[in-house]
Amino acid sequence: MSVGEARPHEAAALHVTGHALYTDDLALRASGVLHAHPVPAPHAHARVTRLEPAPAYEIAGVVRVLTAADVPGVNDSGTKHDEPLFPDEVMFHGQAVAWVLGETLEAARIGAAAVDVAYEALPSLVTVADAIAADSFQGARPTMARGDVAAGFAASTRVFEGVTELAGQEHFYLETHASFAQVDDDGQVFVQCSTQHPTETQEIVAHVLGLASHQVTVQCLRMGGGFGGKEMQPHGYAAIAALGATLTGRPVRVRLTRQQDLTMSGKRHGFHATWRVGFDADGRLQALDATLTSDGGWSLDLSEPVLSRALCHIDNAYWIPHVRVAGRIARTHTTSQTAFRGFGGPQGMLVIEDVLGRCAPALDLAPEELRRRNFYVEGQATPYGQPVRHAERLDRAWQQVLDTGEFTLRRKEIDRHNAGDPHRKRGLAITPVKFGISFNFTSFNQAGALVHVYKDGSVLINHGGTEMGQGLHTKMLQVAATALGLPIERVRLAPTRTDKVPNTSATAASSGADLNGAAVKDACDQILAWLGPVRDRLGDGAAWEEAVRAAYLDRIQLWAAGFYRTEGLSWDATTMTGTPFKYFAYGVAAAEVEVDGFSGAYDVRRVDIVHDVGDSLSPLVDLGQVEGGFLQGVGWLTLEDLRWDSSDGPGRGRLATQSASTYKLPSLSELPADLRVALLERATEDGVVYGSKAVGEPPLMLAFSVREALRDAVAAFGPPGVSVELASPATPEAVWWAIESVRG
Ligand code: MTE
Ligand code: MOS
Repeated sequence: MSVGEARPHEAAALHVTGHALYTDDLALRASGVLHAHPVPAPHAHARVTRLEPAPAYEIAGVVRVLTAADVPGVNDSGTKHDEPLFPDEVMFHGQAVAWVLGETLEAARIGAAAVDVAYEALPSLVTVADAIAADSFQGARPTMARGDVAAGFAASTRVFEGVTELAGQEHFYLETHASFAQVDDDGQVFVQCSTQHPTETQEIVAHVLGLASHQVTVQCLRMGGGFGGKEMQPHGYAAIAALGATLTGRPVRVRLTRQQDLTMSGKRHGFHATWRVGFDADGRLQALDATLTSDGGWSLDLSEPVLSRALCHIDNAYWIPHVRVAGRIARTHTTSQTAFRGFGGPQGMLVIEDVLGRCAPALDLAPEELRRRNFYVEGQATPYGQPVRHAERLDRAWQQVLDTGEFTLRRKEIDRHNAGDPHRKRGLAITPVKFGISFNFTSFNQAGALVHVYKDGSVLINHGGTEMGQGLHTKMLQVAATALGLPIERVRLAPTRTDKVPNTSATAASSGADLNGAAVKDACDQILAWLGPVRDRLGDGAAWEEAVRAAYLDRIQLWAAGFYRTEGLSWDATTMTGTPFKYFAYGVAAAEVEVDGFSGAYDVRRVDIVHDVGDSLSPLVDLGQVEGGFLQGVGWLTLEDLRWDSSDGPGRGRLATQSASTYKLPSLSELPADLRVALLERATEDGVVYGSKAVGEPPLMLAFSVREALRDAVAAFGPPGVSVELASPATPEAVWWAIESVRG
């Protein structure tokens, strides 16, 4: 048995020894490769009034300057046609207006600096507040509504209102954006790309080059992390490499330096939310009226679906009878914000968790009691109309964390500690996660696979998903081995390629294993069915190899294409109603922190997690996803502080946090001293491959427990019953200011 077995990641040994190959390793193995360097604009918003490549050609080693005039197809790298690859209007500081190809990267860099570009600076909007004031929005403005909010407020005994602002997040995948393109004798373009969405990269490359899809092949061997940042953003870099390769006939590599990646690539959307909320006398939510404004940056990219998911997750685990949530996307002169683990879900959920955390003291309820009281019960529907199934699992996970985490006992210990220490206060909080699994857009919920059984009985699998460290390939090997009844060593996995499995969806929405796993299993099942009669004839004792050999001689097909689509889904984007999710993933976390009153610095002392992954396909991989997702969430909520220069000086719009020295990431030292993770038991998910559940994104939101524990600790510096407002990220500085305000 392989599914359910605790195995290391299939490439773990390669990762830790440095032998794993990434896109740029492959590029550097090619001979005659040209290196590409961008010509970055030094303005947040400007018109390009002159672009003269000639001076670049004076530089030794410069081979070609790429400009809009070179594009044979469409000069656009987005799916919304709002992202000119070579812009004549600069939309953010650091945007590439041209690219230079050189024999060496150094030649390309010096050549890029030599390109003569003149700009006419234009007024710019750098913050969401700027954009709201200027009425600068883009894309759809959906509203999700259920019930009658006015009646809900009329039935409420307590009504509160407030503003919640939350910051974005930099993906900081270890491998920066990278693409490598080659053209063969027939004009076929081959692009190796660090992309979560090879099919869309293929389509964008094809339309930039004016080619049909069958003339472009995109391969992704693996990524050194994607986290959503490589769902849509790689396309432009792939197009540059492919354009360079077609124009010069030589292989072209694009690999961003860390600073280029930080200044050019999109991030998690920061949000601004205004809300009004009503509770009855028992603290039960009656009505929520909110407006969510996301900072989309300069172009739409994935901002619309990200906003939809934010609206679809503002309820988190809570039943709210009357809801009206409006969403809109600000257009600012910053990078184009994009998918990031949770895809808007975390932002929506943070709003309701912030509301509950702030209102609990005023309602005279412990926050855990307020949260628990508002949980969905089986059968209640979300604001978009999907019934909540398996709500019992959330109750179970919650109770397990309270019990094994000795919540009540620790609460008493913490109160005792806090009474005796005026300078260091501890806090404790428990928070739930409910996260919808499937792409909101129903059509994306399909996948394909290709399984080959060779004459010697060895098996090669291809599937449409990409590997970014999340362990998808490990799970797919386990699925194939289990489905065929073989030891996992008999199965090998080949790189993801658009010429093997076409028309794939992005590996995203945590659904990689659900979708591709079912497609792999479908292919294996077909082969098994064809082998059936042969095995019957040979009898039970026959080995796999013998059956395969006999089947070959009988001229029986030994390879199959598998396909899967998730049934039962529906989504109406105009009314924002339907059943967009196959199921919900649940999780609960309790966190304990200690905060220093002099500096605002804090430690996370202990975290207890119970997370629902169904029947785990691969428990070690899932454990890694829960721990990694949680810590990435802690980074977003407490450390990572994106800053754009919003002064009126020449640096306006420039990302100030453009390296690891100014952008604080979580590392081993931020891992809770005591971290206990359990996977929820008795959690088989019917209708998903081997009863498993998606795991990639939901654990990120377990980190709300840390933010709420910080709020609890800050409250201990003030009088009883004080409501704490905490900035997000709750950096030590922000925590210190929160302490100052409760003391005041
Ligand atoms: N884990 C690692 N190590 N690296 C990543 O880039 N991306 C996350 C998550 N876990 C990511 C990760 C995101 S944003 C998603 S949507 C899922 O993995 C995608 O993979 P899956 O669908 O196979 O879970
Ligand atoms: Mo993940 S944000 O859906 O790539």
